[in-house]
Amino acid sequence: MSDPFENVDAASPQMIDIIATALETRAEDADMLPVVDEYLGLLNVPEGGRIIDIGSGTGGITRRIADRFPAASVTGLEPSAALTQKAMELAGERPNLTFSIGDGAALDLEDASADIAILHTVLSHVTNPEPLIAEAVRILRPGGTLVICDADFSKAMMGVVPGDPLGSCSEAFVAGSVTDPWLAGKLKPLVGEAGLSVSHFSVLNRVVTSGMGALAWVRMSGARLVADGVIGQPLADALEAEYVRRAEAGILYSFLPFVTLMATKSSV
Ligand SMILES: C[S@@+](CC[C@H](N)C(=O)[O-])C[C@H]1O[C@@H](n2cnc3c(N)ncnc32)[C@H](O)[C@@H]1O
Repeated sequence: MSDPFENVDAASPQMIDIIATALETRAEDADMLPVVDEYLGLLNVPEGGRIIDIGSGTGGITRRIADRFPAASVTGLEPSAALTQKAMELAGERPNLTFSIGDGAALDLEDASADIAILHTVLSHVTNPEPLIAEAVRILRPGGTLVICDADFSKAMMGVVPGDPLGSCSEAFVAGSVTDPWLAGKLKPLVGEAGLSVSHFSVLNRVVTSGMGALAWVRMSGARLVADGVIGQPLADALEAEYVRRAEAGILYSFLPFVTLMATKSSV
């Protein structure tokens, strides 16, 4: 099964809608914010600095970056026209925030023109991360910082007993909506080969025990399995209802580690 995040615009309108809702829900989710706030708190952004969020989706994280650094200019670049359109609609009145369509492997930006480049949960969804990292390095000024934050999907799980039906949803999500579940362990060598020095590497677990923060795993895998004729709509609906029941009862359990790597471009 191919990862719909590799080419969002090729997905069905229903799937694009599910993806947009999932990204916005996650960006606001209390269980996700500590992961984002950790690296934003470590960034040293100069007055008037330039931050590029590569693979910005609907812009939920990009808006947070723009609000955190009002004296910087923040640009979200995203290959999907549908998600970029959504990001523009949601941007509101933020004078320091812009969005454009763009491929992370061929950025329409000058060499050494950015202070910070961010890849937030993008690289686990591409077949070849190397060209995206090389482009991020190219656009960074000497001394600039690359932030890569991504999920370790190889450890993703949902459920409370062996054979839990919701566990099959997290398995199906990773199998059908993630290109490289093992990316997290490869990040250090990838940025080392790109010539950067790692300044920070941490892992924070996102554990969802209530709310709709992890519903995307059930929705995306359900829609995919229905479209592929593997299950019928009643089972997809029942799995979603089971997620909601557990979330409302506070008995949900889903687990996903997030790795954050920060690396510096040499100033010589
Ligand atoms: C899981 S989403 C994350 C979106 C956003 N960073 C966030 O966290 O809300 C993955 C994003 O990577 C984008 N993407 C896929 N291939 C890309 C590429 N070659 N260059 C830049 N972005 C890409 C997808 O279109 C999608 O918006």
